[in-house]
Amino acid sequence: MSDPDKAMDEAGLTNPQVRDYVRHWAEFTGADRVEVVSIADDARLIEEALDAGELEPAGTGRYYSRSYHKDTARSEERTIVATNDPKDKGVYNNWRPASEMRPLLESKMRGALAGKTMYVVPYLMSPPGNALAPWAAGVELTDTRTVVLHMMRMARVGVEFVNDLEDPDSFVRAVHVTGDLETLGHGTPDDQRYFVTVADERTILHFGSSYGGNALLGKIAHGLRQGAYDGWDSRKFLAEQYMLIGIHDKQTGETHHICGGFPSASGKTNLAMMLPPDALGDRYHVSFYGDDIAWLWVDEASGRLYGMNPEYGVFGVAKDTNETTNPTALHSVDEGTGAIFTNVAYNPQTQEVWWEGRTPEPPADVTGWLDWMGAPIADREPGDDSPWAHPNSRFTTTLANVPNIAPDYDTPSGVPIDAIIFGGRTRDREPLIRAIDDLAEGVYDGLTLGAEATFAAEGVEGQLRYDPMSNRPFMAYGEGDYARHYLNVVGAAKEQPIFAHVNWFQRDPEDDHFLWPGYRDNLRPLLWLIQLKKGEVTGRQTPVGIIPTEEELLLDGVDITPEDLETILSIDVERWRQEIGFREEHLAQFDNMPEEIWEAHRRVAAALDAE
Ligand code: GTP
Ligand code: MN
Ligand code: MN
Repeated sequence: MSDPDKAMDEAGLTNPQVRDYVRHWAEFTGADRVEVVSIADDARLIEEALDAGELEPAGTGRYYSRSYHKDTARSEERTIVATNDPKDKGVYNNWRPASEMRPLLESKMRGALAGKTMYVVPYLMSPPGNALAPWAAGVELTDTRTVVLHMMRMARVGVEFVNDLEDPDSFVRAVHVTGDLETLGHGTPDDQRYFVTVADERTILHFGSSYGGNALLGKIAHGLRQGAYDGWDSRKFLAEQYMLIGIHDKQTGETHHICGGFPSASGKTNLAMMLPPDALGDRYHVSFYGDDIAWLWVDEASGRLYGMNPEYGVFGVAKDTNETTNPTALHSVDEGTGAIFTNVAYNPQTQEVWWEGRTPEPPADVTGWLDWMGAPIADREPGDDSPWAHPNSRFTTTLANVPNIAPDYDTPSGVPIDAIIFGGRTRDREPLIRAIDDLAEGVYDGLTLGAEATFAAEGVEGQLRYDPMSNRPFMAYGEGDYARHYLNVVGAAKEQPIFAHVNWFQRDPEDDHFLWPGYRDNLRPLLWLIQLKKGEVTGRQTPVGIIPTEEELLLDGVDITPEDLETILSIDVERWRQEIGFREEHLAQFDNMPEEIWEAHRRVAAALDAE
């Protein structure tokens, strides 16, 4: 075994507490080599990964990787938040005692790196100097080079982010061991995978996956679960699965910032990368701050609610990304960007990549094309129309590659938040947008955010799968305590953000088409929301919020029929009365739900009854 101290000396890793931690785990896992990485090592690690066949070239300065075929998504059932206090148990956090989980994970990790390299990845989940930076430093230890390369795109990586911590012990200890993927019993009763955040010990122990969402520990394990726990524990901030954008009006010179939660695969990345529709492009510009995580706090100097994106890159869904839906995303992964594609289709002869929805039809000449598992398309049985790319195939690229990245995305201050929006995939009941100008009703709305169940078997007809604030997979403590904390943090702001619920996914029950064209046109309801907040429009009050009138929405050049427009700007009162019943059951599951939330629920229910 090589000497960890020598590796740390060479890399200039000086924090004594980090050094102890690295030394401990190097010995515990029996790693053959220790390598401390900073962003300057990227080019060398890329070369090594190409030589080892872990990456393949996708043109120049762009790469392709494939994960083990059972290891392609986050696994919610295998994800656990552990603490030393049973009061932290919630409905969604799969709480377990730390005293049970830590030894279990340690038993899986002991000796697991024999013959392998342990990479040491010091990172920061915030712009340097940000008010929340004290909770943002971490050190991921991993056995997988492609995980290091992804971390370098998704987080700020380098020894400088942990060397000079005010409290040298205040970094998150994040240990990732892949394990032998073929023998982990994925999805069987004997599943060996465990993705554990020991939140009150600021320790993350993930075993059994090298897929992004499970293995990039800075991102969701620290950026969401640990961040949420720390934000509550310190009473200072919220860590949310939110996108964050700025909408700049070139005519008035104003910029408004909107953040918002949509469950996974419901449009955050697409919204954050939005190019305004042609008719509005001369006047408005949308800038990208973040597409998946926002940390929110009240700025001491101004007393306003502020937000920042702790990440440094984008881990976006490839499916349906094309020149029409999201040209910005395509440019952010151009050749030369260093982007990495995972589990899309790949042609080693031409070094091209393809995924469903990239073009209307797959490449006509299948010569050389391999599906996401590496099987030649040319060998397929006639009639085999299984997808070429995995539905959750992804691209990874750094923020600086995103064409509409905000000029100030890296500044320490963060940005003031004007509006918080929620939106799920809902084929009925949810109109295009409904605005809510009351804090408790806004938080209530977020807590009852739902999306239609993907499989009919999952639920009762018409019953949504609730995903509070889009945080269901990332909930770190009890939902009632979470609601209380949310009310406290946002409620402390001098100027209250306006809330809204949006839905791009309402469908025609007859032929299933989307009623709203979506994508670029989603700017229109957001502009209305800003106007409403400024008092320039009034909308129409309904029992569930304020809805725009047709005249108020800037509809120049939108491709929509008058009937469809009428549907998405109205409330189906019967459906909503049923929805209230479902919501009541949903909220009743949670302990300590603040009385303000129940009052908001009863106000909405009474208003619907009065209709
Ligand atoms: P995670 O990264 O998993 O958290 O998901 P996300 O919220 O970032 O979702 P993303 O933006 O990647 O969108 C997921 C899917 O929704 C993609 O297939 C998009 O093409 C599709 N989508 C996004 N916006 C719209 C829209 O306005 N209308 C329609 N019909 N589809 C959309
Ligand atoms: Mn996400
Ligand atoms: Mn996304």
